[in-house]
Amino acid sequence: MHSEHEDVSRILFSEQQIAQRVKEMGAQIASDHPDQSMLVISVLRGAAIFMADLVRAIDLPVEMDYMAVSSYGSGTKTSGVVQILKDTTASVEGRHVLIAEDILDSGLTLQYLISSLQARNPASIEVAALLVKHAKRQADIDCNYIGFACPDEFIVGYGLDYAERYRNLPYIGVLRPEIYA
Ligand code: IMP
Ligand code: MG
Repeated sequence: MHSEHEDVSRILFSEQQIAQRVKEMGAQIASDHPDQSMLVISVLRGAAIFMADLVRAIDLPVEMDYMAVSSYGSGTKTSGVVQILKDTTASVEGRHVLIAEDILDSGLTLQYLISSLQARNPASIEVAALLVKHAKRQADIDCNYIGFACPDEFIVGYGLDYAERYRNLPYIGVLRPEIYA
């Protein structure tokens, strides 16, 4: 097992557990969409790592695109204000869209993204979230694919950051509160 970072108090999901779960999610997505091509959109920057693994587990014709939004700044609490910093390159109209999100917390980010994409007349929109926190949900989001339920703690790794750090940890762990206190 990969050695634990000193700023991480405990590992929630190991590299092996994540790999296994992402493979299962990809297989499920492929079997739910026989003969479809999908436009997988990830929300930069956190979900880029999840998306990279997820698309390799989806045995379908898949196109990848990226959006960037801001809602967090460098703190650990959602601001509720979501701004599109980078939009998709591909046209969404008529496409089967799958949004790959790293973590669903308040849901405000996804709610905004979904309504923005819905306005462009896709054939369908689904959401795959690697992690879901249930504690602070403010928006009613229907997640089609969920990797893991996540405790209400601030976590890092596998794409998730605190102030742009720790994204490259291969596992997901709880950040020691004294780091962001
Ligand atoms: P929401 O709008 O509150 O659902 O925020 C979702 C976004 O907040 C995610 O895409 C993450 O970038 C970030 N986020 C939420 N919880 C955590 C966490 O525990 N660690 C790191 N980032 C988080
Ligand atoms: Mg994010």
